[in-house]
Amino acid sequence: MAANEEVFKKVVSHAKEFGFVFPSSEIYDGLSATYDYAQNGVELKNNIKKYWWTAMVQMNENIVGLDAAIFMHPKTWKASGHVDAFNDPLIDNKDSKKRYRADVLVEDHIAKIEGKINKDITKAKKRFGDAFNEEEFRSTNPNVLRRVGEIEKIEAQLKTVQVNEDLVAFKSLIEDLGIVCPISGSKNWTEVRQFNLMFGTEMGSVAGDASTIYLRPETAQGIFVNYLNVQKTGRMKIPFGIAQIGKAFRNEIVARQFIFRMREFEQMEMQFFVKPGTQKKWYEHWKEARIKWHKALNLGSDNYRFHDHLKVAHYADAATDIEFNFPIGFKELEGVHSRTDFDLGKHEEFSGKKLRYFDNDDNESYVPYVVETSIGLDRMFLAVLSSSFNEEKLEDGSERIVLNIPPALAPTKAAVLPLVKKDGLPEKAREIMKILQYDHICAYEEKDSIGKRYRRQDAIGTPYCITVDHQTLDDNTVTIRERDTMSQERVAVDELPRIIGKKVSLKNLFMDSVVSV
Ligand code: GAP
Repeated sequence: MAANEEVFKKVVSHAKEFGFVFPSSEIYDGLSATYDYAQNGVELKNNIKKYWWTAMVQMNENIVGLDAAIFMHPKTWKASGHVDAFNDPLIDNKDSKKRYRADVLVEDHIAKIEGKINKDITKAKKRFGDAFNEEEFRSTNPNVLRRVGEIEKIEAQLKTVQVNEDLVAFKSLIEDLGIVCPISGSKNWTEVRQFNLMFGTEMGSVAGDASTIYLRPETAQGIFVNYLNVQKTGRMKIPFGIAQIGKAFRNEIVARQFIFRMREFEQMEMQFFVKPGTQKKWYEHWKEARIKWHKALNLGSDNYRFHDHLKVAHYADAATDIEFNFPIGFKELEGVHSRTDFDLGKHEEFSGKKLRYFDNDDNESYVPYVVETSIGLDRMFLAVLSSSFNEEKLEDGSERIVLNIPPALAPTKAAVLPLVKKDGLPEKAREIMKILQYDHICAYEEKDSIGKRYRRQDAIGTPYCITVDHQTLDDNTVTIRERDTMSQERVAVDELPRIIGKKVSLKNLFMDSVVSV
């Protein structure tokens, strides 16, 4: 097992043990690819939403929010192309009876070749030490060059079969590459077939009257169909954006890897409506704005990369993924898509309603183009959780597990701990809780030794522990311990709101992350 797969397993079990994420309906052995967010998970998730919403809506006067229904008129999905084209190519292995996404099999094969390149680089780095020049090595080493050529060839072949939707050629590609089933190890594959990812259900209680409706596979369509209502009632001028956070549903073929790929998940999407012809500029703008938002969290700037789509979705003229270095490798975290006027144009056509914007400045009317940013909240949660998870060996030889979650996102901001359960210390600790609770989620703990209580708070990522001791009763001071450095300081109780407030403030993140429009 690769080292980071081990880390991934540890993160998953930590998430369960410390009340972040539970398998859904676990008493019935769970439901595949469905998870519940527990007491700490829901706080982390809410804080991520707040970070996104503030950066998008609060900090941009020309972006407003929306909360559209999950159920939409069935024609929506015909117009958007999801009924006809929201498919994944699937393939089964006849021996293991396991089902795979054909494109993922090929992408995993490419990732293996990339892994070999990285191995060569690591070896050479060791051999040459400080004199090693990675750029030069990449551009001259024959093994690396051969492998890069191999990757480029496979990517081109993948693009061709995808663009042509040639399922026979897709199967041949998998066979030619010698891809084996990870479970059975065999190359005994079925044909490649298309599979629509939307969940259908029925609305209406009278038999025969019911009509099939879909659980939305993206939140974006709720924004498109409301765009003119918002524009008119909000007196919005182009360019402007509409932001939304909400659930989406996809009947994923391969739904593994914990909360990375689920059948019910949450998206944070923003559609930015622009004048036709300016979409390229705004696409670049939002790429930059979004990567800044991510990097402001300090989860490591090397953990991000852009990956431009080989095959853009049916609605886009340019698209890129922001990939994050999860323990399962670099994978898509967010998409930035230039969606043209595809969606609004189709909704005009299917609804028969004009969805044009009248531009007073240029005295013309047009269907706006759209640049969209779309991030999976659950994937963002996983990015924060997995990159914050650390097992540390301490100077005294002991070990601790700590979640170095950015303080602004941490579920609990401070834990108030009376040193002993007597002498009036619990009462004093509760008084301090009352002061802090108005502004922050705080925890009160009096059971076990102070060391054990510190460890429990480290494990859920609480930035501060405040210890109330006998001296507190004399001079109204406490010890405040910082999670990452474990340093302790004696401070006045009156100072606590300022110290904690500064550390956990979202404002500091925004200073670095907001690119105003
Ligand atoms: N409106 C555009 C759209 O939905 P997408 O690339 O299909 O684009 C956007 O999805 C984001 O939603 C992805 O980058 C990912 O973070 C998240 N996402 C998509 N499918 C998911 C799933 N099955 N489970 C969890 N997150 C998912």
